[in-house]
Amino acid sequence: MSTQSPGNEKRVTTHVLHEMKSRGEKISMLTAYDYSMGRIIDAAGIDVILVGDSASNVMAGHETTLPITLDQMIYHASSVVRGVQRALVVVDLPFGSYQGNSKEALASTIRIMKESGAHAVKMEGGEEILESIRRILTAGVPVMGHLGLTPQSIYKFGTYAVRATEDAEAEKLVGDAKLLEQAGCFALVLEKIPSDLAHRVAKSIAIPVIGIGAGPHVDGQVLVVHDMLGINNEFKPRFLRKYADLHTTITEAVQQYVRDVKSVDFPNDREQY
Ligand code: KIV
Repeated sequence: MSTQSPGNEKRVTTHVLHEMKSRGEKISMLTAYDYSMGRIIDAAGIDVILVGDSASNVMAGHETTLPITLDQMIYHASSVVRGVQRALVVVDLPFGSYQGNSKEALASTIRIMKESGAHAVKMEGGEEILESIRRILTAGVPVMGHLGLTPQSIYKFGTYAVRATEDAEAEKLVGDAKLLEQAGCFALVLEKIPSDLAHRVAKSIAIPVIGIGAGPHVDGQVLVVHDMLGINNEFKPRFLRKYADLHTTITEAVQQYVRDVKSVDFPNDREQY
């Protein structure tokens, strides 16, 4: 069911996303980790905001997503939620907060929902985490799945290369996608898999499939906001399209500020009391 947001804009709900898939309207999704960015991308019309555990990389500078904690995810998520009026806000359950057992998974989810005000959670994995997904769903919390390159398993994979290029892994992925749909997930992220395989999955399940490095034949796209805005200028995978070069913009602005301060050009007569 869709509801009216305080700004009187129709809120994006899981139901709205299903309707979008049914009528072939693509879903736009980006990450955000703080109030200001959440506010900007929400007002710009993004459908779904993911408070991704990629915060571990782009906000905290860790090499992987593994170190980020549940408390840190709640901090990021509550900051984003305060800036959002329209988009659906989905929060990653961080590594170690749900893999132990379904009771722990539910307890982590309840903390996220109560303490951040977010609308849904995302979890990496298929059959092996089904019991936890079912338990979270019974508490009334929508769950987004995530298959393919699942960064929390990077030490099992040993590489960030494209996943499911071999038949066995591709068949398991298709089977897992169907299991996640049957369990009641409202949507599924497919990361860095062949375009044809992502197409096959998107056609075979009724829930929206959101791709990142999974080609165009899915129901929507997600990117890490720091990557697509060119803040992080070292990460250049083939799937990434840069919509801005904020690394250069920010560097030049800061260099100008430094020059202005040192030359006492700033503040001028109008910039003082
Ligand atoms: O954490 C994240 O940013 C993600 C996206 C890459 C889908 O999971």
